[in-house]
Amino acid sequence: MRASASASSGNLGPGFDVLGLALDLRCTVEARPSDRMTVDDGDGPVDLHAGDMLYDVVAAAVGKPMALTVYNDVPRARGLGSSSAVTAAAAAAVQRATGVEPERQRIYEIVTGVEGHGDNAAPAVWGGLMAVGPNGPYGLEINDVLVPVVGIPNARLSTKRAREVVPRTVPLATATRNVSRAVLLVEALRTGDPDAFAQAAGDEFHEQPRAALSPVTGRMMEAARDAGALHASWSGAGPTTLALATADTRDAVVEAMASVLGDAGRLAVLSVDYDGLI
Ligand code: HSE
Repeated sequence: MRASASASSGNLGPGFDVLGLALDLRCTVEARPSDRMTVDDGDGPVDLHAGDMLYDVVAAAVGKPMALTVYNDVPRARGLGSSSAVTAAAAAAVQRATGVEPERQRIYEIVTGVEGHGDNAAPAVWGGLMAVGPNGPYGLEINDVLVPVVGIPNARLSTKRAREVVPRTVPLATATRNVSRAVLLVEALRTGDPDAFAQAAGDEFHEQPRAALSPVTGRMMEAARDAGALHASWSGAGPTTLALATADTRDAVVEAMASVLGDAGRLAVLSVDYDGLI
């Protein structure tokens, strides 16, 4: 049995660990009962062990061994929610393989329990723009004039490494500025209003501390804004840059980001995914 879940861009700038947008790249997992827990990424089956993300997800979802085959269009370790997409798809596929139709809230809980990033897990499961509230995920509105453009460097950056540089405490004035940006960003995403986007630009929780880990990410953000993008941010923990353009500015934004990235990666114009887990 199969299931698939969407890629996502977490944070969107000031919404650190809270906001996530589903993007139309998918990870599909096929599952069948087996006497061993294995995963095949295209190079043949490999045994999984307790502590491996996929093993732990299957254990939580069905508690019996499964053979998984993964078809993943989501680039890995680039800040596009690949881990959430693969774990959500795996949890749902193994439940289907045991005759249970997966329930989104349960899949979300399994994924966040093992993988930990609700800002990717929520959009991977529900699609669209999601916020991680203190009591669970909440769907937000996203204006359909917005065209997501991603600049994906070839270099990988692990989320673990990218989180090590994020300060554990911030001054109150910094937190206030960031909350202000996040509030205006949610309104900007709903309305498409350029003034609200302009006020929502930037982030002091994680983008500034992470800047040195992938200088090209920030340079692409600047180029995208100069070319007319309404918004630009680190995509999740990076190194991918997310820009939000419109139909009118899309080509200029792609060109500007591509000229920064050169042959060190690739650009993609994506759509918002509204399906999540299917
Ligand atoms: N919000 C997380 C971070 C991304 O920025 O570390 C999870 O992929």
